[in-house]
Amino acid sequence: MKVLLLSKYRHLELADLPEPTAGPGEVLIRVAACGICGSDVHGYDGSSGRRIPPIVMGHEAAGSIAGVGEGVAGFTKGDRVTFDSTIYCGACSHCCRGEVNLCDRRQVLGVSCSDYRRAGAFAEFVAVPSRIVYRLPDSLSFEEAAMLEAVSVAVHAVSLEQISPGSNALVVGAGMIGLLVLQALRVAGCSRIFIADLDRSRLKLAQDVGATAILSAEADFVAEIMQVTGGTGVDVAVEAVGRSETVKASIESVRKGGTVVLVGNISPEVALPLQKVVTRQLRLQGSCASAGEYPRAIELLATGAIQVKPLISAIAPLEEGPRWFERLHAREPNLMKVILTPGMVS
Ligand SMILES: NC(=O)c1ccc[n+]([C@@H]2O[C@H](COP(=O)([O-])OP(=O)(O)OC[C@H]3O[C@@H](n4cnc5c(N)ncnc54)[C@H](O)[C@@H]3O)[C@@H](O)[C@H]2O)c1
Ligand SMILES: [Zn+2]
Ligand SMILES: [Zn+2]
Repeated sequence: MKVLLLSKYRHLELADLPEPTAGPGEVLIRVAACGICGSDVHGYDGSSGRRIPPIVMGHEAAGSIAGVGEGVAGFTKGDRVTFDSTIYCGACSHCCRGEVNLCDRRQVLGVSCSDYRRAGAFAEFVAVPSRIVYRLPDSLSFEEAAMLEAVSVAVHAVSLEQISPGSNALVVGAGMIGLLVLQALRVAGCSRIFIADLDRSRLKLAQDVGATAILSAEADFVAEIMQVTGGTGVDVAVEAVGRSETVKASIESVRKGGTVVLVGNISPEVALPLQKVVTRQLRLQGSCASAGEYPRAIELLATGAIQVKPLISAIAPLEEGPRWFERLHAREPNLMKVILTPGMVS
């Protein structure tokens, strides 16, 4: 089968690898669409250390069942599906509590680090455990379905905070995750949702997908938040950048007793304005991947409650993968999600 292989850092090539087979409890999926994630771009140049070559990356995918392994029930050849990016064991104490995102033996598709190596979906076929596979409604295209991984991250982050009708919220960062969090907050019942970013084009997108107001992070947006909330601050801030300055601004933007959900993690460490957190009794809530939100995310896309089409910048054949990775790596402006279509190679 054809794959996009990271054979060394900053070098992707189209290669031929043996087609995987579905082992016991697994299904074989013919990959129709697989999105390039920011973490793939950070793995590509070696900066994250989580894509040690040689590796086939790709964990945001959708396709159809091409084979069913021993002991798998409920799937047949041709079923349109997507799958969780996280492979959890289903047996550890976290999995038993339903916190599958915190599984002790957690592996991510398309990741190779010091602990494990797991082939991903920039390939014509990928084999995955059937317990992480979800059926897709016919109304959802494979390209939209490839966005479900990011949608479930957003839905999970929002599920960790208490939203009541009339709540107001701030999203810091209007990237892929921030724009989906914004929509998930609206679905959860937030009445006013503000969003801040440095990038004008991303703020424009935020407006298109329903932000109450957009705020330039080049200016003092904490002051603006205070002004629009009568000096109290928002009930909830979701940090979707992961830098000291944005964590600080998120903390300063919430009301006393409010919550900051931390999703961004681009920096391993940030400076924390400790006294502002303690004396204003804030709750800092980390959020990692998703834990059972796929069915809800599928429903939200299928009903149009969350829109992903405006976030898809390009759909391209697998052969064009190397060029798109370079363009994303160069941080070309106005690029959001790029989706490759491996199973459709000519
Ligand atoms: N916790 C999780 O499960 C999870 C899952 C996916 C991604 N992430 C993390 O979430 C973050 C966002 O991911 P993404 O895919 O949306 O990335 P992205 O690159 O698409 O978006 C980041 C956005 O932050 C903006 N930004 C940068 N510096 C800023 C500043 N000082 N002020 C305001 N905005 C600023 C950028 O302009 C960009 O729009 C990353 O840190 C990523 O690692 C976490
Ligand atoms: Zn990802
Ligand atoms: Zn587990």
